[in-house]
Amino acid sequence: MRSHILGKIELDQQRLKLDLDYLETVPVVQEEYDEFSNGYWKNIPLWNASGQADDRLYRDIEGGAVATEHTARTPYLSEIVTSVFNTAHLQMARTRNLKNAVVIPHRDFVELDRNADLYFRTFMVLEESPRAYHSNEDTVVRFRPGEIWFLDAASEHSAVNLSELSRQSLCVDFAFDGPFDEKEIFADPTVYSPGGEPEFVPRKPFTSETRDRILSLANVLERDNFRDVLFMLSKVHFLYEVHPAQTYTWLVDIAKATGDEKMVTKAEQIRAFAIDARALTDRFSLTSW
Ligand SMILES: [Fe+2]
Repeated sequence: MRSHILGKIELDQQRLKLDLDYLETVPVVQEEYDEFSNGYWKNIPLWNASGQADDRLYRDIEGGAVATEHTARTPYLSEIVTSVFNTAHLQMARTRNLKNAVVIPHRDFVELDRNADLYFRTFMVLEESPRAYHSNEDTVVRFRPGEIWFLDAASEHSAVNLSELSRQSLCVDFAFDGPFDEKEIFADPTVYSPGGEPEFVPRKPFTSETRDRILSLANVLERDNFRDVLFMLSKVHFLYEVHPAQTYTWLVDIAKATGDEKMVTKAEQIRAFAIDARALTDRFSLTSW
């Protein structure tokens, strides 16, 4: 796992609460990449490519990121963006919440123009949510509030909140035109303090018996629960010691066992879409056949 802790800040709980209360009132809308998640998944742009409050698409931008009207209602988080981080290379800053939901394992930036190493995503959880986890390749961690993480979104990763407890977070993205040092993203050099020990999430061993139980889902898989089975499979690696990309291996194998070629094709397509390559405008349906 290349994801790691970059530093930590103390959150001012009183100021934070006012911002969180506002974010709670912003309605849930259809998200870009809604196909990647189920349940409650809410992204609110504070800075983005256009300055439009409802523009949630992460993309390469010309010039600097533009503040949206949400920044006026989130003064504390906006201050963190501009005082902790060096905004010279800012691409996007957004809050992201996930409740009783899972994001399917995927890789980001595959649809963008730069080499993936020139994108740098940071992620900071703002609230205690004991059953909200992040995975990156063979590791599952729980982010603690105030920890600023480099999230290696270019490799296989996923997120889940197994509870209804809010797990609001601040995701700040940077992009560079050439080689850079990760400390360049900070305006305040005292925040940069790498080497912190993450809170790893213990998982159960993944055995052949576990795999057999998963593959027996072929007995219940149908087109109308294909999406549910994908999300069910996406949770397995948070609980068992297995790579997140296995999610798609099982889905393809289960689909093959049903003998339904359309399900096999869709399973292979979703794997290619999430892990391999997609165009910026590509969208994918899990429910139309
Ligand atoms: Fe992602």
